[in-house]
Amino acid sequence: MTELPGRPVSESRTEMTEIVFPNDANPLGNIMGGRVMHWIDICAAIAAGRHARSPVVTAAVDQIAFHRPVRVGGVLVIVASVNYAHRTSMEVGVKMWNEDRATGERSHVVSAYLTFVALDPDTGTPRRVPQVIPETDDDRRRFAKAIERRERRLERREQAG
Ligand SMILES: CC(C)(COP(=O)(O)OP(=O)(O)OC[C@H]1O[C@@H](n2cnc3c(N)ncnc32)[C@H](O)[C@@H]1OP(=O)(O)O)[C@@H](O)C(=O)NCCC(=O)NCCS
Repeated sequence: MTELPGRPVSESRTEMTEIVFPNDANPLGNIMGGRVMHWIDICAAIAAGRHARSPVVTAAVDQIAFHRPVRVGGVLVIVASVNYAHRTSMEVGVKMWNEDRATGERSHVVSAYLTFVALDPDTGTPRRVPQVIPETDDDRRRFAKAIERRERRLERREQAG
């Protein structure tokens, strides 16, 4: 089978900006975890689709830790890119910040790693994706860490049967 040409990380980089409305919040006036996960999944899916240039599905989401609450009215910046691609699967890293509207200062709210699988649009079965070309030192660090995480994920799946 012929190798697909690699694709640089910058081609999958995706940024979304959202404002937290009352219907995104819990009774305490803070954003609901489910809404955060929804936006993370969307941003990550766009990044994976840009890398694969085909439909993608979420195969797995690693542990998500919420570092701090975000109030209604808060501005959230979500950035995602593909860290590493194997055969048909990709690890996408997502980071979310709360942006202070007065100062523009950003505080880290949550990070997550998701695995997406590219599908052939005709058959709906997994299809090959291009390899990731890391361009910066951060890309290379994330690429190496993603390989380690993939190995741990495979071990956990094996143990779970
Ligand atoms: C994800 C899915 C397409 C994988 O199909 P499959 O028949 O298991 O395919 P394969 O066994 O050939 O695996 C394909 C790739 O997915 C990866 N994969 C499958 N399940 C995985 C999981 N739970 N976590 C991480 N990677 C997974 C495999 O490692 C493989 O990666 P590789 O090709 O890069 O080595 C299938 O399980 C599916 O459709 N799941 C539902 C997805 C969905 O609906 N998500 C939306 C919301 S839940």
